[in-house]
Amino acid sequence: MSSDSEILKKVTEAVLKKSENFPEKKIAVKGYDFNDGIDYHALLQSYSTTGFQATSFGQAVNEINNMIQCRNSPPADRIDDVAETDPFIRRKTNCTIFLGYTSNMASAGVREVIRFLVQHKMVDCLVTTAGGVEEDLIKCIAPTFLGDFSLKGSELREKGINRIGNLLVPNDNYCQFETWVIPILSRMLEEQKSANIIWSPSKMITRLGKEINNSSSICYWAAKNEIPIFCPGITDGSLGDMLYFHSFKDPGLIVDIVQDIRRINSIAVKAVNSGIIILGGGLVKHHICNANMMRNGADFSVYVNTANEFDGSDSGALPDEAVSWGKIKKEATPVKVYGDATLIFPLLVAETFARWHHEVC
Ligand SMILES: NC(=O)c1ccc[n+]([C@@H]2O[C@H](COP(=O)([O-])OP(=O)(O)OC[C@H]3O[C@@H](n4cnc5c(N)ncnc54)[C@H](O)[C@@H]3O)[C@@H](O)[C@H]2O)c1
Repeated sequence: MSSDSEILKKVTEAVLKKSENFPEKKIAVKGYDFNDGIDYHALLQSYSTTGFQATSFGQAVNEINNMIQCRNSPPADRIDDVAETDPFIRRKTNCTIFLGYTSNMASAGVREVIRFLVQHKMVDCLVTTAGGVEEDLIKCIAPTFLGDFSLKGSELREKGINRIGNLLVPNDNYCQFETWVIPILSRMLEEQKSANIIWSPSKMITRLGKEINNSSSICYWAAKNEIPIFCPGITDGSLGDMLYFHSFKDPGLIVDIVQDIRRINSIAVKAVNSGIIILGGGLVKHHICNANMMRNGADFSVYVNTANEFDGSDSGALPDEAVSWGKIKKEATPVKVYGDATLIFPLLVAETFARWHHEVC
């Protein structure tokens, strides 16, 4: 049996072990002090030293500001891409920014934040899924409403109301969308026959953006500002339903996805520097990363999503997995922020693009 002094020595050594070889770059954890008043910029800046996802948010702000700085300091001779005949893929700045977003971002109010970026030509290439296109267009025709996550599906179905999380979309909206879009698809088919135009998803979205002619729309500004919207899964949503209906009424429309893989990969290959911002996972995340593999990786990267990596999903894959594939550069400082993009993305834009736009950076 050990003496009390021996026991005390042992436990003291165990509990009060001395720290050594602490990382050189030490930053003390510190949050916002509301005694300093309510200053939202200072509050968001304090996230960097708050810890956990707040610190990741701060790193994402830095990463995006680095993209913007790179974009705004172009060596003129290197960005000159006048020989490119397709204005949608012509290199325009020193840092080509790819923005990906899942469909629900267009259903939610993130749509307005994305529209601001596209309206002011702050991004160069968008990738979304079918709902990301149609929800944007349909909102120009009829609104989406706030609801509740707990509203019962069977009761909503009786009333012809569709639920997306805590948002509600009357089925009438899709009926009105059908009335609007079917004649456009017929005109596109006519142009395919008379002028040999072969449509691709991105060309079709540009056409729909022109036709909607409504300044609240992402597609409208993308068409106006010659920013392509890629959507390789264009049939997986209401647009697919419309293409299906149209194929009975007026068969023969061709939508060619090969043109678009050539277009998006060309944008990546041409980029002097490349920045990627991806909200959510699935197709939009992989499509942007895959295009960036064509240039041996993006220089700047920010992921915002809720997915985890334990299941091997691409949605949950951390930036370092993309480094292994050559989708993000080895030297890059990519950031992943875990969380709901409806909370995070407006704040990220507030601290980055919006500050540059309003010249407060
Ligand atoms: N409004 C809609 O959501 C809608 C409408 C019509 C069609 N669809 C179709 O459903 C299919 C699947 O949709 P999808 O591929 O756009 O994405 P998704 O909704 O399946 O989401 C993919 C992943 O992104 C992440 N994610 C999604 N929402 C997020 C958020 N708010 N914050 C952070 N991370 C988030 C999650 O990890 C999720 O597993 C697509 O083909 C789409 O066209 C969706």
